[in-house]
Amino acid sequence: MVRSSRFLMKRIAFLVSGNGTNMENLVREIQAGRVPGQAAVVISDNPRAGALERAKKLGVTTAVVERKDYETKQDFETGIEEALSQYEADLVCLAGFMRILSPGFVERHFGRIVNIHPAYLPEFPGAHAIKDAFEAKVKQTGVTVHFVDAGVDSGPIILQERVAVRPEDTLETLEARIHEKEYRLYPEAVKLVLSGKARLEKM
Ligand code: GAR
Repeated sequence: MVRSSRFLMKRIAFLVSGNGTNMENLVREIQAGRVPGQAAVVISDNPRAGALERAKKLGVTTAVVERKDYETKQDFETGIEEALSQYEADLVCLAGFMRILSPGFVERHFGRIVNIHPAYLPEFPGAHAIKDAFEAKVKQTGVTVHFVDAGVDSGPIILQERVAVRPEDTLETLEARIHEKEYRLYPEAVKLVLSGKARLEKM
């Protein structure tokens, strides 16, 4: 990433792998002027991600960086970094990006990568958090937005809120309520980061 904090209107890059509803919601908040940034690019590691179509409809530039086109994970991440530089990203929002970034990548972009996770971390990390919480029959789960560190769904928490699991819930109804919470929480958390109210100090 090449730009620095002296730029008022921060450029936001999204890393996605799938459906892209969180990205779409955040881009809509940005385009409506409720989140003070610019949607710079949507980068997907999956050329078939629904997120790419959503981004195009929203008029946001897209890029595909596929793992299979690179020999090593390090080279793949260099490909992502090249796209981030090309589109002058100040902040990276992971939005359903289903790969673990290496410690080196995280270190190089320290404090400038955030992630949304559909559980109340540290409860239920991983790729199937809603299902895991549902099957564990917990009475409440939640949503977390956090700075990314080298762990899996770990890193300093920016915002998190509880979501009740109701006795009548199916996995689908619980999923829907968690996504509604995500669509409210992610823009709020990004606003805190963009305004400097949430920031990660180097240890
Ligand atoms: C979201 O629920 C997000 O929290 C989750 O993937 C979903 C992506 O949906 N992320 C993780 O589980 C990260 N461990 P979307 O593509 O429709 O935004």
